[in-house]
Amino acid sequence: MTKGIFISLEGGEGSGKSTLARKLKEFLESKNIPVLLTREPGGTLEAEAIRSLVVEGENDRFDPIVEALLFNAARRHHLMQAIIPALDLGCWVICDRFVDSTFVYQGFVQNVDLVFLKNLHRDACKNIFPNVTFLLDVPVDVGLYRANKRQYNEHEARFEKKGYLFHEAVRKSFLDLSKDYADRYYVLDSTLTEFELFKIATECLSNLFIELNTQ
Ligand SMILES: Nc1ncnc2c1ncn2[C@@H]1O[C@H](COP(=O)(O)OP(=O)(O)OP(=O)(O)O)[C@@H](O)[C@H]1O
Ligand SMILES: [Mg+2]
Repeated sequence: MTKGIFISLEGGEGSGKSTLARKLKEFLESKNIPVLLTREPGGTLEAEAIRSLVVEGENDRFDPIVEALLFNAARRHHLMQAIIPALDLGCWVICDRFVDSTFVYQGFVQNVDLVFLKNLHRDACKNIFPNVTFLLDVPVDVGLYRANKRQYNEHEARFEKKGYLFHEAVRKSFLDLSKDYADRYYVLDSTLTEFELFKIATECLSNLFIELNTQ
């Protein structure tokens, strides 16, 4: 039985996931809650090595089934070595992307069978889903503009290079998926300011976990 709360952030490129993740970590820590802020693919040394394989290089480097298997390998390592131990210790875990990104990018958008992906998640990743998922929804051109403005992760641009229609499909698929998992999903309008998004997200968490008042 895990004791911590597991929060994931999802959404397209440049939608503001990492920005909100950092702010939520600060907020929770200000309430004396221990937090593990982590990301996918990655989060452990070994999973970060898989990340480099998947997010760097040429567009056609891997077909979507290979991608799905690599993401699941990284996710299992991350779960077993970092996320589950942290939750067991009572830490809240904030994860910048999680399984829903695989459902969307490899499943909905690149037609890997969703039943296959769900079975893989069940068998390789203990069927663990976050308690809460924030979807940062933003028009594709706004997200790509923001992502392109950043200099620091140019080498990680394999998915960013996939073109407008791909990203439009990603956006729509996340919105569709949020309806399938409505009990844990909060869809945020990411054209709002960083501060407005932070306020909405912390109010959501405070309503859900009543001990966290936002005062
Ligand atoms: N609500 C916002 N309004 C305007 N700009 C924002 C907002 N949120 C984030 N940004 C800016 O947009 C850029 C992308 O944000 P961020 O890195 O958080 O997105 P991301 O979803 O993590 O992207 P990626 O998928 O590429 O990791 C950053 O320069 C950030 O400062
Ligand atoms: Mg990010």
